Amino acid sequence: MDINVLAGSIDTVEDELIVVNLFEGVDKPGGATAVVDQALGGAIADAIAGGDFKGKKGEVAVFYTRSALPAPRVLLVGLGLQDKLGLNAVREAAAAAAKKARALGVKSFSTIVHGAGAGGLTLESAAQAVVEGTILGLYRYQELKNEPPDRPDPERLILVQLDAANLPALEAGARAGEIVAEAACLARDLANRPANYATPEELAELALDIAGDFETLSCQVLDEEDADELGMGAFLGVAQGSDEPAVFIVMEHNAGRDDLDTVVLVGKGITFDSGGISLKPGEHMDKMRCDMAGGAAVLATMLAVAELNLPLHVVGLVPATENLPSGSAYKPGDVLTALNGKTIEIISTDAEGRLILADALAYAARFEPKALVDLATLTGACVTALGRGVAAGVFSNDDGLLARLQAASQASGERIWPLPLYDDYMDKIESLTADMTNSGGREGGVGSSAMFLKQFAGDYPWAHLDIAGMSFEERPDSPKRPAYLQKGGTGFGVRLLIQLLREWAAAG
Ligand code: BES
Ligand code: MN
Ligand code: ZN
Repeated sequence: MDINVLAGSIDTVEDELIVVNLFEGVDKPGGATAVVDQALGGAIADAIAGGDFKGKKGEVAVFYTRSALPAPRVLLVGLGLQDKLGLNAVREAAAAAAKKARALGVKSFSTIVHGAGAGGLTLESAAQAVVEGTILGLYRYQELKNEPPDRPDPERLILVQLDAANLPALEAGARAGEIVAEAACLARDLANRPANYATPEELAELALDIAGDFETLSCQVLDEEDADELGMGAFLGVAQGSDEPAVFIVMEHNAGRDDLDTVVLVGKGITFDSGGISLKPGEHMDKMRCDMAGGAAVLATMLAVAELNLPLHVVGLVPATENLPSGSAYKPGDVLTALNGKTIEIISTDAEGRLILADALAYAARFEPKALVDLATLTGACVTALGRGVAAGVFSNDDGLLARLQAASQASGERIWPLPLYDDYMDKIESLTADMTNSGGREGGVGSSAMFLKQFAGDYPWAHLDIAGMSFEERPDSPKRPAYLQKGGTGFGVRLLIQLLREWAAAG
């Protein structure tokens, strides 16, 4: 989609459709909406007075201008309550408007920047949110369908804003929004892509392709032999049941730049999680193709980091493998030795994510990171604790890093909620035969999984995000779910990580 910016008044714009907004509970439109309403002879005010339009988040109405304005159609979109206005409301309004534009068959449309000015949102951040909402709202997973969708996507969006002096801020926000949203869409594609397409080697191919496009990016793909030489026994234990070769992807932005802060991102890359010998029930097993959503978020973030050319040394690690049962699969009771020498007794082969992350976290030590952040669809227990689609769980051994993540969560609208790392969780993974087990059982399962990971993070500032409940949207489109989400992969974590890194780069 082409994103353009324009200085001027929205009512003067010649386009197929212009978008204005309304807060919930307002009975007289203001600002740009008032100007348009006036040109329409009070049609918008009538819709409000008649109770036909309430301004609720995501609500849309179309008005035909019949030559009263250069544009033939006006789309009015609800912004929700004014005192609840935030960037997420802007994203939702933009997504709802874009979907309606598509349903109308519109190829190009123009919009005011929702939330800019009012509610204290900066023009730049509001513009970014409008573009994010638009692109994320229009997202569809199409690559394996033979028939094109019945309505093609709009090809162009124009952000319109009165003051020409503000164009640089508008431009900057729009550009950032485009980079962030396109990266999130890539992560969605990868999570949606079936496991027979998104194999570990295909992910590696993609990482190499991305790295090839940027001078600052490099990519190294370790194969099973390399992993064996390094001593990644936990990762290889998971991989040994599958016929798909496992890969350990290492992406680096600004490699060798000792003058820059180093941040290492680790993403769980289980391209399919059957549970292994501890086989999962069949129902919903297809969704386990999204068990590489953390890895997808890391790959996509690396792309955005390179596009934004952030002044940081950023490393992306993605251990990628399937988890399958077979004659060569690892078994409950087996003991694996991780890269840092620690031994792990396998209780459940379905607790595989923490095993591949163990080696990746230990591998991260060679970069001596200022921050080490892992993302993983790790436990059903996290979904039970916080709810599906509500918030990711976050664990950290460093208050500064946690605070940075929480700030990034606020700005990106991707929710995270802190959970405790009590020493007691260590007791849950005590083992008879090894240094620890890979499963602390059902009770407190999210805490014991995080405590397990902590054993491999060394003393580096580390945070673990359990994104199991956030990566895959199973509910159908419903008015309660934000319009920028669809069924399937959500791309969760991409916006959060990019925000974290941009703020880090700006603040040092
Ligand atoms: N990939 C799953 C976790 C998951 C659950 C992701 C639901 C997305 C949605 C993970 O590998 C897993 O199987 N975890 C087990 C751990 C248990 C065996 C200790 C779980 O949560 O049941
Ligand atoms: Mn599992
Ligand atoms: Zn898993």
